[in-house]
Amino acid sequence: MTSWTAQDLPNMTGRTVVITGAGRGIGLVTARELARAGARVVLAVRDPEKARRAVAGLPGTFDARPLDVADLASVRAFAAAWPGTLDILINNAGVMDIPAARTADGLDLQTTTNYTGPFLLTNLLLDRLTDRVVHVTSQLHRQARLDLDDLDWRARGYHGMRAYQASKLAVVLFSLELQRRLTAAGSRVRSVLAHPGIARTGLAAHSRSNVINRLTFLTNDAEHAALPVLYAATQDVPGNAYVGPHGPGGLKGHPAIGRAGRNGLDQATAARLWPATEALIGAVVSGR
Ligand SMILES: NC(=O)c1ccc[n+]([C@@H]2O[C@H](COP(=O)([O-])OP(=O)(O)OC[C@H]3O[C@@H](n4cnc5c(N)ncnc54)[C@H](OP(=O)(O)O)[C@@H]3O)[C@@H](O)[C@H]2O)c1
Repeated sequence: MTSWTAQDLPNMTGRTVVITGAGRGIGLVTARELARAGARVVLAVRDPEKARRAVAGLPGTFDARPLDVADLASVRAFAAAWPGTLDILINNAGVMDIPAARTADGLDLQTTTNYTGPFLLTNLLLDRLTDRVVHVTSQLHRQARLDLDDLDWRARGYHGMRAYQASKLAVVLFSLELQRRLTAAGSRVRSVLAHPGIARTGLAAHSRSNVINRLTFLTNDAEHAALPVLYAATQDVPGNAYVGPHGPGGLKGHPAIGRAGRNGLDQATAARLWPATEALIGAVVSGR
């Protein structure tokens, strides 16, 4: 059994890491540990001032830049302003089981935050990425049903938890197809997945069931929940590796490579999801 912890991080000096949603929760722990290991960490956040306060006094090099992953204009602006290359992109920002809401672009807020915005960000930064992209997903992708004809919850009645599950399955399928494309292009850049098990963070604050915060005996704190993300970001894992806690049900424990759900390994659906997502983003650009 693996016993890997943040103490086992390699020396990250000279490496630049962008982490979305790094001002609190799992993203903040990930940022703190990578900076401690020597990386230059860029906190890509909605409120850079707040994020700067969160890392004030911590050892290491931090920068904070504005990014709202649910706002496609903000995603484009972040990518356009990015100077030079970056080594690791960690798509961590997320929301869970939030009430129905639309973004400034008219897109479903939960789907855009968890999947569509990160899809666009990753693609806009891809040719400047030297090492890997880490997508933070959830074991709940296993329960998901993805409707490729209604990715954005227009035709069906919106359901907060089903939209969360579907967005996290979309992330898993995005990684699968991205890795296929990278491999086909002969790229050394990797697309990898990490899931934190279940952790007591701000995530469940939105959730009506609030199940995560009630099941404390089953859950991690953010410190432990960040370990699979740190492992996926720094260890020599294969492309599209699915890293999560090693314990029963993948809920808690030290990080190890596991296996995504069968629905997350469906290459045909992954191949269809990509153009469906591009069409969704394209519809925003053309004003629908
Ligand atoms: N906690 C769990 O049990 C669990 C389980 C499976 C997967 N995950 C995943 O782990 C990731 C981190 O979650 P967490 O548990 O650390 O939750 P959290 O404490 O609620 O943190 C979520 C982070 O996402 C950021 N965020 C939300 N919407 C954003 C937007 N539009 N643009 C930029 N940043 C945004 C938040 O920033 P603000 O401070 O600006 O709100 C916050 O920093 C998420 O992707 C989540 O789905 C968590």
